[in-house]
Amino acid sequence: MEEKKRETWGSKLAFILAAIGSAVGLGNIWRFPVMTGNNGGAVFVFLYLITVAFIGIPLMLAEFIMGRYSRKSVVGAFSIYNPKSPWRLAGYLGVITGFGILSYYSVVAGWTIGYLYKTAIGEFSKGVNPEYTKLIFQSFVSSPFASILCDGIMIFLTIVVVIGGIKEGIERWCKILMPLLYLLLIVIDIRALTLPGASEGVKFFLYPDLSKLTLTSVIAALGQAFFSLSLGMGVMVTYGSYLSKKEDLLNSSIWISGATALVAILAGLGIFPALFSLEGVTPEEGAGLIFKVLPNIFDKIPLGRLFGVTFFLLLIIAALTSTVSLLEVISAYFIDEKGWSRFKATLFTGAITFILSIPSALSFGGAKIFTHLYKGEGVLVILDLIFGNFTLIIGGLLISLFVTLNLKQEIAKKELNLPEKLFKIWYLLISLVVPLGIFLILVFKIYQLISS
Ligand code: PHE
Repeated sequence: MEEKKRETWGSKLAFILAAIGSAVGLGNIWRFPVMTGNNGGAVFVFLYLITVAFIGIPLMLAEFIMGRYSRKSVVGAFSIYNPKSPWRLAGYLGVITGFGILSYYSVVAGWTIGYLYKTAIGEFSKGVNPEYTKLIFQSFVSSPFASILCDGIMIFLTIVVVIGGIKEGIERWCKILMPLLYLLLIVIDIRALTLPGASEGVKFFLYPDLSKLTLTSVIAALGQAFFSLSLGMGVMVTYGSYLSKKEDLLNSSIWISGATALVAILAGLGIFPALFSLEGVTPEEGAGLIFKVLPNIFDKIPLGRLFGVTFFLLLIIAALTSTVSLLEVISAYFIDEKGWSRFKATLFTGAITFILSIPSALSFGGAKIFTHLYKGEGVLVILDLIFGNFTLIIGGLLISLFVTLNLKQEIAKKELNLPEKLFKIWYLLISLVVPLGIFLILVFKIYQLISS
């Protein structure tokens, strides 16, 4: 294999932080509560945690193996043995999914920029209540100018970081700010849990009601596990390709997954108790859930405005470390496979993403056709269903098949460097449990669609 010099992470910590940075973001703080609310609460939470452990971690290892062994981004990693192999298509699916997710993720990230501004100028200090926060949300997201502007700012920031290269770009942000995010979430939880009526929310979030267990919630949990861990489209393949041979992959994967799931749980433990203590918001609020709930909690915390500003700032940074990883996958394809410079590749993919993101930015009232595209849902929600759920799951299936059918077991063994027993468990999970699980779920879903 050609040994071109490839950038590598500055240290083990830098790599773990960047991977956590990619994983932790709006997926855990915005999307997880929305999905939990829509899918019956605690049942969904447990399905999510089970999937993270038994499908997420083995798959993350598979992505790291593919990346570190091939030293290539996702398309190259799928075609290391034969550049013409049809597996390449699986790599393209990753790149397309990256465009798809980034095009709406940047819009929601833009909302957090808007909320930072609104909180800072004191828009939520004038006697907040759910009715008011709902109104503010609606008027903000339906303004074409504000949505596109904030979306554009987010994509611009992402381009700047990705052009800076992996080391300077990502490492710097994560070191101090990530721990601070956990701390703020804990403060939010403490406040939310001590509000009157909070126990109903705890019950909703932690005590499973098995009657809520449906195929839809299983699929949603599977998709959420992939989305939240940035799996199924090659982020971890690409990040793994910058990884030195020394690092312990299993240990890293457990840390990354644990830290990510923890953020989701902390977010849920803040949102739902607060939600049940408020009148006029329901768990099925949809994409605006956290934006409608959070300002009400900040209002009940001493120095709430300062607190809210800090929180939204951290959320923007958490989102940025995720958008950076999405754009990195796409640009790395043009850099590795097309030989473009990092500057050109990033500017080009960033500009395309911005154009693609405009329909999503207009899908909450900004433009009628994007707001009600299909069955009353707007572009953003539909793109999230397709790219945030479906193609990630398919990508995960393909990765597990590639690693079992194509990559020699010896290679995986060497990369993982695990005791025999652990290796066997991983192999059983990745070669059987992951593909079969995903396959069965998809078959049931298709059957359900056909028979309905
Ligand atoms: N994991 C990120 C988040 O939770 C989103 C993401 C998905 C990033 C897929 C990259 C790839 O916010």
